[in-house]
Amino acid sequence: MKKLGIIGAMQVEVETLVANLKEKNCRTVAGSDYYEGTLEGLPVVVVQCGIGKVNAALCAQILCSEFAVTHLVNTGVAGSLDRDLDIGDLLVSRDAVHHDFDCGPVGYPRCQVPGLDVLAFPADEQLMALAFTAAESVNPGHTKVGRVASGDQFISRRDVKAEIIANTQACCTEMEGAAIAHVAYRNRIPFVVLRAISDKADDSAEMDYPTFEAIAARRCAAVTMELAKALCE
Ligand code: ADE
Repeated sequence: MKKLGIIGAMQVEVETLVANLKEKNCRTVAGSDYYEGTLEGLPVVVVQCGIGKVNAALCAQILCSEFAVTHLVNTGVAGSLDRDLDIGDLLVSRDAVHHDFDCGPVGYPRCQVPGLDVLAFPADEQLMALAFTAAESVNPGHTKVGRVASGDQFISRRDVKAEIIANTQACCTEMEGAAIAHVAYRNRIPFVVLRAISDKADDSAEMDYPTFEAIAARRCAAVTMELAKALCE
Protein backbone atom coordinates (compact mmCIF):
# COMPACT_ATOMS: atom_id res chain seq x y z
CA MET A 1 0.00 0.00 0.00
CA LYS A 2 1.50 3.34 -1.08
CA LYS A 3 1.62 6.30 1.29
CA LEU A 4 3.14 9.50 -0.09
CA GLY A 5 4.88 12.00 2.19
CA ILE A 6 4.60 15.52 0.74
CA ILE A 7 6.92 18.23 2.06
CA GLY A 8 6.81 21.95 1.33
CA ALA A 9 8.80 24.56 3.22
CA MET A 10 6.25 27.37 3.25
CA GLN A 11 2.53 27.66 3.81
CA VAL A 12 1.89 28.82 0.26
CA GLU A 13 3.56 25.64 -0.99
CA VAL A 14 1.26 23.27 0.94
CA GLU A 15 -2.02 25.11 1.64
CA THR A 16 -3.89 24.02 -1.51
CA LEU A 17 -2.80 20.42 -0.89
CA VAL A 18 -4.03 20.48 2.70
CA ALA A 19 -7.28 22.11 1.56
CA ASN A 20 -7.84 19.28 -0.95
CA LEU A 21 -7.26 16.43 1.55
CA LYS A 22 -10.17 14.10 2.25
CA GLU A 23 -10.61 12.25 5.57
CA LYS A 24 -8.17 14.76 7.04
CA ASN A 25 -6.48 14.18 10.37
CA CYS A 26 -3.78 16.36 11.95
CA ARG A 27 -0.97 15.37 14.32
CA THR A 28 1.72 17.73 15.59
CA VAL A 29 5.28 16.42 16.02
CA ALA A 30 8.31 18.60 16.93
CA GLY A 31 6.29 21.73 16.25
CA SER A 32 5.10 20.81 12.74
CA ASP A 33 1.56 19.82 11.75
CA TYR A 34 1.30 16.57 9.78
CA TYR A 35 -1.95 16.30 7.80
CA GLU A 36 -2.90 12.72 6.99
CA GLY A 37 -5.65 11.92 4.51
CA THR A 38 -6.23 11.06 0.89
CA LEU A 39 -5.32 13.28 -2.07
CA GLU A 40 -6.92 12.29 -5.37
CA GLY A 41 -7.58 8.91 -3.72
CA LEU A 42 -3.96 8.34 -2.63
CA PRO A 43 -3.05 8.04 1.08
CA VAL A 44 -0.74 10.97 1.83
CA VAL A 45 0.79 12.95 4.70
CA VAL A 46 1.40 16.65 4.03
CA VAL A 47 3.73 18.80 6.15
CA GLN A 48 5.04 22.35 6.05
CA CYS A 49 8.61 21.79 7.21
CA GLY A 50 9.87 25.37 7.42
CA ILE A 51 12.81 26.78 5.49
CA GLY A 52 16.22 25.14 5.26
CA LYS A 53 17.87 21.76 5.23
CA VAL A 54 17.65 20.92 8.93
CA ASN A 55 13.90 21.59 9.04
CA ALA A 56 13.46 19.54 5.87
CA ALA A 57 15.53 16.59 7.11
CA LEU A 58 13.72 16.57 10.45
CA CYS A 59 10.30 16.37 8.81
CA ALA A 60 11.41 13.84 6.22
CA GLN A 61 12.67 11.50 8.94
CA ILE A 62 9.48 11.94 10.98
CA LEU A 63 7.46 11.06 7.87
CA CYS A 64 9.53 7.87 7.53
CA SER A 65 9.67 6.85 11.19
CA GLU A 66 6.33 8.02 12.60
CA PHE A 67 4.06 7.95 9.56
CA ALA A 68 5.64 5.07 7.60
CA VAL A 69 5.47 6.82 4.23
CA THR A 70 6.58 4.70 1.28
CA HIS A 71 7.49 7.59 -1.08
CA LEU A 72 8.60 11.21 -0.59
CA VAL A 73 7.99 14.27 -2.75
CA ASN A 74 9.26 17.78 -2.15
CA THR A 75 7.17 20.53 -3.72
CA GLY A 76 8.00 24.22 -3.87
CA VAL A 77 9.75 27.10 -5.57
CA ALA A 78 13.35 27.47 -6.73
CA GLY A 79 15.81 29.86 -8.30
CA SER A 80 16.80 28.97 -11.86
CA LEU A 81 20.44 28.09 -12.67
CA ASP A 82 19.61 27.13 -16.25
CA ARG A 83 19.14 29.43 -19.25
CA ASP A 84 16.24 27.24 -20.43
CA LEU A 85 14.32 27.49 -17.13
CA ASP A 86 12.30 30.69 -16.93
CA ILE A 87 10.02 31.95 -14.18
CA GLY A 88 6.99 29.65 -13.90
CA ASP A 89 8.76 26.70 -15.56
CA LEU A 90 8.98 23.34 -13.80
CA LEU A 91 11.90 21.16 -12.79
CA VAL A 92 11.75 17.46 -11.94
CA SER A 93 14.83 16.25 -10.09
CA ARG A 94 17.07 13.65 -11.70
CA ASP A 95 19.15 13.93 -8.53
CA ALA A 96 19.91 16.37 -5.72
CA VAL A 97 23.13 17.67 -4.12
CA HIS A 98 24.09 19.77 -1.10
CA HIS A 99 25.84 22.70 -2.82
CA ASP A 100 27.13 24.01 0.53
CA PHE A 101 28.71 20.72 1.70
CA ASP A 102 32.48 21.10 1.49
CA CYS A 103 35.09 18.81 3.07
CA GLY A 104 37.58 19.72 0.32
CA PRO A 105 40.44 20.50 2.74
CA VAL A 106 40.40 16.87 3.94
CA GLY A 107 40.26 15.33 0.49
CA TYR A 108 36.59 15.06 -0.49
CA PRO A 109 35.07 16.38 -3.71
CA ARG A 110 32.79 19.39 -3.41
CA CYS A 111 29.23 18.37 -2.30
CA GLN A 112 30.36 14.91 -1.12
CA VAL A 113 29.05 13.83 2.29
CA PRO A 114 31.83 11.71 3.83
CA GLY A 115 30.70 8.14 4.46
CA LEU A 116 28.09 8.05 1.71
CA ASP A 117 28.71 6.27 -1.58
CA VAL A 118 27.02 8.90 -3.76
CA LEU A 119 27.72 12.57 -4.40
CA ALA A 120 24.22 13.30 -5.73
CA PHE A 121 21.16 11.47 -4.40
CA PRO A 122 19.36 9.85 -7.37
CA ALA A 123 15.62 10.35 -7.66
CA ASP A 124 13.32 7.40 -8.29
CA GLU A 125 12.80 6.64 -12.00
CA GLN A 126 9.06 5.93 -11.69
CA LEU A 127 8.40 9.08 -9.63
CA MET A 128 10.47 11.12 -12.11
CA ALA A 129 8.46 9.82 -15.06
CA LEU A 130 5.11 10.37 -13.35
CA ALA A 131 6.17 13.84 -12.12
CA PHE A 132 7.29 14.80 -15.64
CA THR A 133 3.92 13.77 -17.14
CA ALA A 134 2.11 15.58 -14.32
CA ALA A 135 4.17 18.74 -14.87
CA GLU A 136 3.55 18.67 -18.61
CA SER A 137 -0.19 18.37 -18.01
CA VAL A 138 -0.14 21.55 -15.88
CA ASN A 139 2.28 23.64 -18.01
CA PRO A 140 2.92 21.95 -21.38
CA GLY A 141 6.36 22.41 -22.92
CA HIS A 142 7.90 24.01 -19.84
CA THR A 143 9.34 21.10 -17.84
CA LYS A 144 12.95 20.05 -17.51
CA VAL A 145 14.51 17.05 -15.75
CA GLY A 146 17.79 17.84 -14.01
CA ARG A 147 19.83 18.32 -10.91
CA VAL A 148 18.67 20.26 -7.85
CA ALA A 149 21.31 22.03 -5.70
CA SER A 150 20.30 22.81 -2.11
CA GLY A 151 21.94 24.92 0.56
CA ASP A 152 21.06 27.08 3.54
CA GLN A 153 21.30 30.27 1.46
CA PHE A 154 18.92 32.35 -0.65
CA ILE A 155 20.96 32.92 -3.82
CA SER A 156 20.75 36.45 -5.25
CA ARG A 157 24.27 37.22 -6.50
CA ARG A 158 25.63 36.45 -9.95
CA ASP A 159 29.03 35.33 -8.64
CA VAL A 160 27.52 32.96 -6.08
CA LYS A 161 25.15 31.58 -8.73
CA ALA A 162 28.08 31.01 -11.13
CA GLU A 163 30.03 29.18 -8.42
CA ILE A 164 27.11 26.85 -7.65
CA ILE A 165 26.68 26.08 -11.35
CA ALA A 166 30.41 25.37 -11.71
CA ASN A 167 30.44 23.12 -8.63
CA THR A 168 27.21 21.20 -9.26
CA GLN A 169 25.99 21.60 -12.90
CA ALA A 170 22.52 21.91 -11.33
CA CYS A 171 19.44 23.34 -13.04
CA CYS A 172 17.93 25.05 -10.01
CA THR A 173 18.73 25.99 -6.43
CA GLU A 174 16.60 25.91 -3.31
CA MET A 175 16.96 25.17 0.39
CA GLU A 176 15.43 21.75 1.17
CA GLY A 177 15.51 19.23 -1.70
CA ALA A 178 18.90 17.60 -1.07
CA ALA A 179 18.14 17.21 2.63
CA ILE A 180 14.93 15.33 1.81
CA ALA A 181 16.77 13.30 -0.83
CA HIS A 182 19.50 12.50 1.71
CA VAL A 183 16.95 11.23 4.25
CA ALA A 184 15.14 9.22 1.55
CA TYR A 185 18.48 7.69 0.53
CA ARG A 186 19.36 6.70 4.10
CA ASN A 187 15.87 5.17 4.57
CA ARG A 188 15.95 3.53 1.12
CA ILE A 189 12.68 5.02 -0.03
CA PRO A 190 11.93 6.56 -3.42
CA PHE A 191 11.78 10.36 -3.74
CA VAL A 192 11.45 13.14 -6.25
CA VAL A 193 11.89 16.90 -5.94
CA LEU A 194 9.43 18.99 -7.94
CA ARG A 195 10.07 22.72 -8.22
CA ALA A 196 8.57 25.71 -10.01
CA ILE A 197 10.89 28.61 -10.82
CA SER A 198 10.19 31.83 -8.88
CA ASP A 199 13.38 33.77 -9.80
CA LYS A 200 16.72 33.57 -11.58
CA ALA A 201 18.92 33.36 -8.44
CA ASP A 202 20.78 36.54 -9.47
CA ASP A 203 20.45 40.28 -8.84
CA SER A 204 16.87 40.21 -10.16
CA ALA A 205 15.83 37.66 -7.52
CA GLU A 206 15.04 40.14 -4.76
CA MET A 207 12.47 41.81 -7.06
CA ASP A 208 11.13 38.68 -8.76
CA TYR A 209 10.84 36.34 -5.80
CA PRO A 210 8.09 38.21 -3.92
CA THR A 211 6.22 38.77 -7.20
CA PHE A 212 6.27 35.17 -8.39
CA GLU A 213 6.54 33.12 -5.17
CA ALA A 214 2.82 32.39 -4.79
CA ILE A 215 2.14 31.74 -8.49
CA ALA A 216 5.06 29.31 -8.73
CA ALA A 217 4.26 27.61 -5.40
CA ARG A 218 0.63 26.98 -6.38
CA ARG A 219 1.62 25.71 -9.82
CA CYS A 220 3.94 23.19 -8.18
CA ALA A 221 1.20 22.11 -5.76
CA ALA A 222 -1.11 21.55 -8.76
CA VAL A 223 1.54 19.27 -10.28
CA THR A 224 1.86 17.40 -6.97
CA MET A 225 -1.90 16.74 -7.03
CA GLU A 226 -1.58 15.32 -10.55
CA LEU A 227 1.32 13.19 -9.37
CA ALA A 228 -0.81 11.82 -6.49
CA LYS A 229 -3.55 10.98 -8.98
CA ALA A 230 -1.08 9.16 -11.23
CA LEU A 231 0.49 7.24 -8.31
CA CYS A 232 -2.97 6.08 -7.25
CA GLU A 233 -3.70 4.54 -10.68
N1 ADE B 1 14.00 29.41 -3.55
C1 ADE B 1 13.48 30.19 -4.52
N2 ADE B 1 14.41 31.01 -5.04
C2 ADE B 1 15.56 30.74 -4.39
C3 ADE B 1 16.87 31.26 -4.46
N3 ADE B 1 17.17 32.24 -5.30
N4 ADE B 1 17.82 30.76 -3.62
C4 ADE B 1 17.50 29.78 -2.75
N5 ADE B 1 16.26 29.25 -2.64
C5 ADE B 1 15.31 29.73 -3.44
